[in-house]
Amino acid sequence: MASPIAILTDMVNYIDFDKKSLLVSAGAIAFNPTFWNIVARREYRTKFLTRAFGGSAQTACYALAVTIFSLGLLRDFLYERALRDQPTHPLLVGDVPTYAAYALIAIGNLFVITSTWRLGITGTFLGDYFGILMDSMVTGFPFNVTSAPMYYGSTMSFLGTALLYGKPAGILLTAWVLFVYIVAIQYENPFTSGIYAKRERERAKGTGREEKKEL
Ligand SMILES: *[C@@H]1O[C@H](CO)[C@@H](O)[C@H](O)[C@H]1NC(C)=O
Repeated sequence: MASPIAILTDMVNYIDFDKKSLLVSAGAIAFNPTFWNIVARREYRTKFLTRAFGGSAQTACYALAVTIFSLGLLRDFLYERALRDQPTHPLLVGDVPTYAAYALIAIGNLFVITSTWRLGITGTFLGDYFGILMDSMVTGFPFNVTSAPMYYGSTMSFLGTALLYGKPAGILLTAWVLFVYIVAIQYENPFTSGIYAKRERERAKGTGREEKKEL
C-alpha cells in the first residue's frame, strides 16, 4: 500500500505543466470573480451600469448576470479543454471515481441551482450592489447546509469533472478554484454586510422620524 505522500507525488507527475491550456484555464478561473467584484463595486460607487441602462438597476443587473453567466460557460469550456490536454491517472479510472464524479456533479449542481432559485437572479448576481436588496436573509436549503452554496457547489462540480476525466490536473485546478472562491468570500462578505448594515441604519433612522411625527 503506497503512502499518501507517494500517491500525491505520483499524481503530480501526471500533471503536464507545459500545456498552455492549463494556465489559460487557471487564468479564467481567477478572472471571473475578479471581474464581477471590480464591476459590482464600481456600480455601487458610481451607478455606471444603471446609468448605461437608462437608469434601470434591474436591467443593468440582468445584463451583468448574463455577462457573468457567459463568462462562467467560457471558463467551464476552457477547463474541459485543459483536462483533455492532460494525462489520465490509472487510479482515477474505474467505477469508484466515476460514481464519485457523478455524485459530486449532482450535489454541486443541486447547490448551485437551488441557491439561485432561493435568491433569484438579482439576488444571485450581485443585486445588492445595484441597490436591489433582499428583504431578509435566506436561510432555507441549501443555505442551512453551507453559507456559500454557490461557491462550494461550483467547486464540487469542478472536482467531479476532474474525476470523470480521471485527470490529476483537474484536482489541482479544483484546489485553485477553492482558493479563489475563499479569497472572493473574504473580500465580498464584509462588503455586502456593510450594504445591509447601512440599510438597517437608514431604516432605524426612518422609523425614528416616523415616531417623532406621531408625537
Ligand atoms: C435544511 O433544510 C431542509 C428543508 O428546507 C431540510 O430538509 C434539511 O434537513 C435541512 N438541513 C439541515 C442540515 O439543517
